[in-house]
Parts: sequence; C-alpha cells; structure tokens
Amino acid sequence: MACKMNIVFDNGTKMPALGFGTWRAPDDEVEKALNEALEAGYRHIDTAPVYMNEKTIGKVLKEWLDAGKVTRNELFVVTKLPPHGTRASSVEKFLKRSLADLQLEYVDLYHIHVPFTVPEVDGPFLMDDNGEIVLETTTDHVALWKAMEKVLEAGLARNIGLSNFNQRQIQRILDNCQIKPANLQIENHIYLQQPELVEFCKRNGITVTAYSPLGSKGIEQLLNRQVPDLLDNPVVKEIAQKLDKSAAQILLRHLLQRGISTIPKSTNSKRLRDNIDLFGFSIDDADMQRLNELDQNVRICDFGFFPGITKHPEFPF
Ligand SMILES: NC(=O)c1ccc[n+]([C@@H]2O[C@H](COP(=O)([O-])OP(=O)(O)OC[C@H]3O[C@@H](n4cnc5c(N)ncnc54)[C@H](OP(=O)(O)O)[C@@H]3O)[C@@H](O)[C@H]2O)c1
Repeated sequence: MACKMNIVFDNGTKMPALGFGTWRAPDDEVEKALNEALEAGYRHIDTAPVYMNEKTIGKVLKEWLDAGKVTRNELFVVTKLPPHGTRASSVEKFLKRSLADLQLEYVDLYHIHVPFTVPEVDGPFLMDDNGEIVLETTTDHVALWKAMEKVLEAGLARNIGLSNFNQRQIQRILDNCQIKPANLQIENHIYLQQPELVEFCKRNGITVTAYSPLGSKGIEQLLNRQVPDLLDNPVVKEIAQKLDKSAAQILLRHLLQRGISTIPKSTNSKRLRDNIDLFGFSIDDADMQRLNELDQNVRICDFGFFPGITKHPEFPF
C-alpha cells in the first residue's frame, strides 16, 4: 500500500500527498514506527528539531538507503527551522544541524516552523519570572526568507516553505521574494478548514499541508484543556460506516479530496497502516459537502504550551 497521490508544486516537484507525522513520537517509538511506515509505503516524512527525533529518523532512513530498500529520490523528507532559529543568521546553521542528524545531504522541503522568534539558548526555552516564555521581538520575515532562498540555492533544501504563517505574513513574503514558498503547513481538519487561507494559497501557487488532521489526540495534556474529538463526530462516523472505513480514513480522505496533503502521526502498527489506506475509495460530492459544513473555526494547536507567546508581534493567530 503506497501513497498513490502526489501534490505537485509550481516548480514541478512532486510530494506524496500522504506523509508520516512524527511530533510526540519519542525515539523509542519512532524507530519501530518509521520502519513500519516505510514498509507500509510512506515516503513523505515530516519532522522538526523540536520533535527531538531527527537523529533516530536519520538512522532509520540511512539503514533503508544503505540496504537499497529505497532510493533518495523516492523519499520526501521535510524538516523545519525551529522557533529559536527564526532569524536570518541562524538558517544555514540549523539546517546543517538537521541534515547532520538526518544523515542527508539535502531535505526535500525546509519550512520556517513558526513566524515568531524566541532566543537561542543552551537547553530548554527561556522562561521569565512570571512563567512566560522570553520573546525575541526583532523577527524580520523578509531577511529570514532571503536566508531561506540562500540555502535552497546552495542545494541544502530542494524546496522552501512556511508553517503557521497567516495570510498577511505570507503576502509580505510574496511581495519581497525571488523564490516563492512552495508549501504552507497549517493546522487543518473538519473543525478548522480555513477556506480563505487555503484559497489564498491556491491563488498564489502555494500548496497546503494539513497538520493535526485527526485532531492531535493527546495534545490536551500539553495544553491543559479539553479539545474536541474529531473521530467521534456523528457525520464522520456515519460516512465511515457507509463506506466501511474508519473515522480517521474519512478525515484524511476529506483533506486529500480538498487538494490538501496531510501528515497524520501514528506509532501504532495498525493505525499507521489504516492512515495510508486511502486510495481505493472516495467520498462523494454530497458527503464532501456535509464534511465541509462541519467547519467551526476551532483551533486545537494554538501554541498554548508556550505561555505568553501571543504577546509576540508576529504571533499569527
Ligand atoms: N508545523 C507545525 O507547527 C505542526 C504542528 C503540529 C503537528 N505537525 C505535524 O503534523 C503531524 C500530525 O499532527 P499531530 O501529531 O498533531 O496530530 P494527528 O496526526 O492529528 O493525531 C495524532 C494522534 O492521533 C492518534 N491516531 C493516529 N492515527 C489514528 C487512527 N487511525 N485512529 C485513531 N487515532 C489515531 C495518534 O496516536 P497513536 O500514535 O497511538 O496512533 C496520536 O495520538 C505531527 O506529527 C507533525 O509531524 C506540525
């Protein structure tokens, strides 16, 4: 079972529409899960330095490449510039660090993880006396994007993109860039469909990847609040029953049929296989419409785990 659908960037690059998410997949789980994911046909892998698993991901990818079980061209590896690196002078250093950990010469897509910046320190993020995260408020997106273009020109990244940027922030980059962002990675699912932002990206030739497509189960422990259970939505469950699929498969297929790529995370053997088994069925127009109507503009991953981050001038939401 492989991902049989590609998202094509404006420059012709093909990215498998279904990727493997790895946030909250610690080293001891991700090694086994990534092996199983590659066996199951995943070729698009999404990671980031802040997920603290790039070294293990790199080890597994090297084993697969060295054994000739996969070629580098078949893989699509995505990583991100961390929040403590969101400044022009840090881009090359952090990308080279990720490449060393991933044991790769280039990544297929390098994202700016977030539009805001926090100071670079040894160890965890700096907190102030009020328990809020210390901010670096001099974030300069235009200079930052120039540095992103430079690492692309140097061959360290084949494509460059943005994550968690809002429309105003993206427009500013479009107005000042030589190379436009190939992809925007944002939270997207039935309860946060962001039709205007998705349409804006389509109009500007920027592809969209949905993160937290299943509602990021388990995130409530990090956020310290309840979050809605997408898998329990009655419309989703009814369509799943009708098509003899799981609720997760309906949520993922809904995104693919909207032309949005997605990167569900699972370290469970059965669930990660289910999540890529999306290519032998489709949701009809009437049910797509019912799913579209579930939008409630409810954001789950609001970065509430960075207390005080909403005070940053470039906080996007
Ligand atoms: N750019 C960003 O700022 C950003 C932010 C968030 C996420 N991401 C990326 O997007 C990926 C996906 O988002 P996410 O991890 O937040 O959430 P998600 O993929 O929506 O949900 C993951 C959770 O759902 C469970 N799950 C997976 N498949 C399932 C299934 N078929 N049925 C029931 N439960 C299932 C997983 O548990 P098990 O592992 O136990 O199956 C895990 O608890 C991340 O891993 C990361 O790569 C990016």
